[in-house]
Amino acid sequence: MAHSATTPGLRPFLPADAAPLAALFRASIETLAADDYDDDQREAWASAADDEAAFAARLASGLTIIALVNGAIAGFASLKDNRLFDMLYVRPDLAGQGVGSALAEAIEKLAGARGAKKLTVDASDAARDFFAARGYVAQQRNTVTIAGQWLGNTTMTKELAAPAAGRPH
Ligand SMILES: CC(C)(COP(=O)(O)OP(=O)(O)OC[C@H]1O[C@@H](n2cnc3c(N)ncnc32)[C@H](O)[C@@H]1OP(=O)(O)O)[C@@H](O)C(=O)NCCC(=O)NCCS
Repeated sequence: MAHSATTPGLRPFLPADAAPLAALFRASIETLAADDYDDDQREAWASAADDEAAFAARLASGLTIIALVNGAIAGFASLKDNRLFDMLYVRPDLAGQGVGSALAEAIEKLAGARGAKKLTVDASDAARDFFAARGYVAQQRNTVTIAGQWLGNTTMTKELAAPAAGRPH
């Protein structure tokens, strides 16, 4: 699996993105979370995008950014209330190429620039090592019920560096 790092383009979410993002969300969970959650658990998790209007409203209510590789949507991330890393999903065929990192970095910078001191994520077991490598520290283990299935995740937090400001000493 020799992957080279990709530097995706980034842009804000637009209402027309809702349908492709719902498909990407589903594909990402089905493929990239398969080592950590069984078929029924992944189906329940992915069903959050079945109601496309509700999914679109969730994307629009936060700060949602889209990653583009060769002009196509490669992943997306969403920040809620300037403190909660609500969603981060990468297209399965582009996993491991730096798309998730580029999105996470952008969300952290945007949150920091808007005054956030700390970000919190309820990290899936498929993403826990990814977030740990970015400096997120596990706080507590959770078990949540989604569509009748029990899924484990881990609340993790990261202290954000203060945005560069002021004079050098
Ligand atoms: C987690 C996820 C967003 C990572 O996206 P990605 O584009 O593959 O991540 P990157 O390529 O930027 O990886 C960055 C680093 O994390 C590592 N990494 C990525 N996914 C990993 C995983 N599942 N386990 C361990 N390490 C992982 C990579 O090896 C890479 O390390 P390196 O820089 O030393 O090479 C993606 O796998 C995904 O969409 N997963 C399914 C959905 C999900 O669980 N989302 C999170 C909900 S909280």
